[in-house]
Amino acid sequence: MEKEILELKDNYINSIDNVNGLSELDLIKSKVLGKNGELTRFLKQVSSLPPEKRPVMGQLVNKAKSEIMAILSAKQSKLEHARLHSKLSKDGTDASLPGISVKKGHLHPISLVIREIVTLFDRFGFTVKEGPDIESEEFNFEALNIGKDHPARDMHDTFYLTNKQLLRTHTSPVQIRTMLNEKPPLRILAPGKVYRYDADTSHSPVFHQIEGLYVDKNVTLADLKGTLTTFLHSFFGQDYDVRFRSSYFPFTEPSVEVDVKWNDPGSKLHGKWFEVMGAGLVQREVFRQTKIDPDLYTGFAFGMGIERLAMLKYQINDIRLLYENDSRLLKQF
Ligand code: DAH
Repeated sequence: MEKEILELKDNYINSIDNVNGLSELDLIKSKVLGKNGELTRFLKQVSSLPPEKRPVMGQLVNKAKSEIMAILSAKQSKLEHARLHSKLSKDGTDASLPGISVKKGHLHPISLVIREIVTLFDRFGFTVKEGPDIESEEFNFEALNIGKDHPARDMHDTFYLTNKQLLRTHTSPVQIRTMLNEKPPLRILAPGKVYRYDADTSHSPVFHQIEGLYVDKNVTLADLKGTLTTFLHSFFGQDYDVRFRSSYFPFTEPSVEVDVKWNDPGSKLHGKWFEVMGAGLVQREVFRQTKIDPDLYTGFAFGMGIERLAMLKYQINDIRLLYENDSRLLKQF
């Protein structure tokens, strides 16, 4: 039996060597190692040998098997390689040329700014809320104490739809939706698209805002100033001064506009103040509209334009660059 095995092995090694095609190689493989292959048959016989002979013969068969397998797989890769080579040379492919790389995308600067702001406010416990782009006149204006005669309601500024609906002009109606649906304490951040009849190098008819709202007992203007200053220092830099100018919004009282002082000696903007958001303490009338008791609760709100923040932070001077999706701009982020 020993001799037979060795002979069989040599024969197969020889015939593997002479094979020229992959299908022929497969055939040999099944003839020797398949379920009823010749070597498999020897392996089955081992168990019927007297016990003292089994280990030696078993080892011999297994050794022959692994030798044949090694030679088979070497031959297989040689044949596969040859087949690929002949295919490539026939269709004129030059395998030595560099490949076509797949370009990888990444987040748009608008998304980056939104995510950064959401992350920073997450530290203060603010969670994200969303509202619809098509909003009712009531939530967009009336409930926010914006009277019928307010200029923001002008046909020239707003995209009105039918049935007293419009494309929201700001993210502030999300404040109303939240206060109507949830009980204080509230800490929410509402990013989203807003729409205005407006277009030039720094205004687009569709742009993005983030609204913030904090309602609890004993919220004061000091909380507003502390929170927004900490946020702006994290977003622009610790060495950017922040100032609060008194202002007017129908839905806050008192109202402020918040400016940061650009601090980059190498930049044309160095030392200039830039307005970055509107804010204020929630108007008592807004609380009344949403059935929150203004004698029990106070709160602050703020709203900022994302494009404006992105243009400042990344020093982009034309808003259209943010919408053209020119990869030469985008790949810089
Ligand atoms: N909604 C205002 C706008 O679009 C921005 C704003 C100002 C939002 C003051 C606020 C706020 O929440 O308190 O111009």
